[in-house]
Amino acid sequence: MPTSVHFPTHIYCEPLQPSGRAKFNADLAAECRQLRDYDAAGRKWSAKNYPGGYTSYASMNELHRFSSTFAALEKKFLRHARAFAKILDFDLRGRSVRMTDCWVNIMPPTTAHSMHLHPLSFISGTYYVATPAGCPGLKFEDPRLDRFMAAPPRLPDHSPANRIHLTYPAVAGNIILFESWLRHEVTSNRVDAERISISFNFNWS
Ligand code: NI
Repeated sequence: MPTSVHFPTHIYCEPLQPSGRAKFNADLAAECRQLRDYDAAGRKWSAKNYPGGYTSYASMNELHRFSSTFAALEKKFLRHARAFAKILDFDLRGRSVRMTDCWVNIMPPTTAHSMHLHPLSFISGTYYVATPAGCPGLKFEDPRLDRFMAAPPRLPDHSPANRIHLTYPAVAGNIILFESWLRHEVTSNRVDAERISISFNFNWS
């Protein structure tokens, strides 16, 4: 073929661990809900900025520094982040990679998280703790969207690689990683149960 693909956008999706996911996630969900009960500042911030839901993003966003549960999660996340960095050909030899932020998101019915990216990091991601059937996935946007200008619509059977928006289903036990500049959103939760996830950023030095 005379045409090659360049400048790819990589998205990584894998089970966090090979087994024991149900018990692991049940314990984690209980801890996330305890955090919501404890974190008055986070509930207050969420009431204004995350309507209907709870996030510790603005109040307790370094959970791995204060909780042994989240410190253990950092180790598991780091293994995947390194695997992803390898796919991206990042040279991390002799460099340290660490999780800079880690926070909890609880989305009851109607809560949504509009399009955003994650500044001051190079790899970001989410781990899914509780994903009731029918809850929204993670929707990514083509980073070149503002440059398409005169592009015609895609054919009905266009390949996934040529999609402008792509939604990864939220599956409890899975970790999704992406480069931090990639814009993404979670549309409104329309099921009558809480969707729980843990989001995080990695940086290097
Ligand atoms: Ni995000």
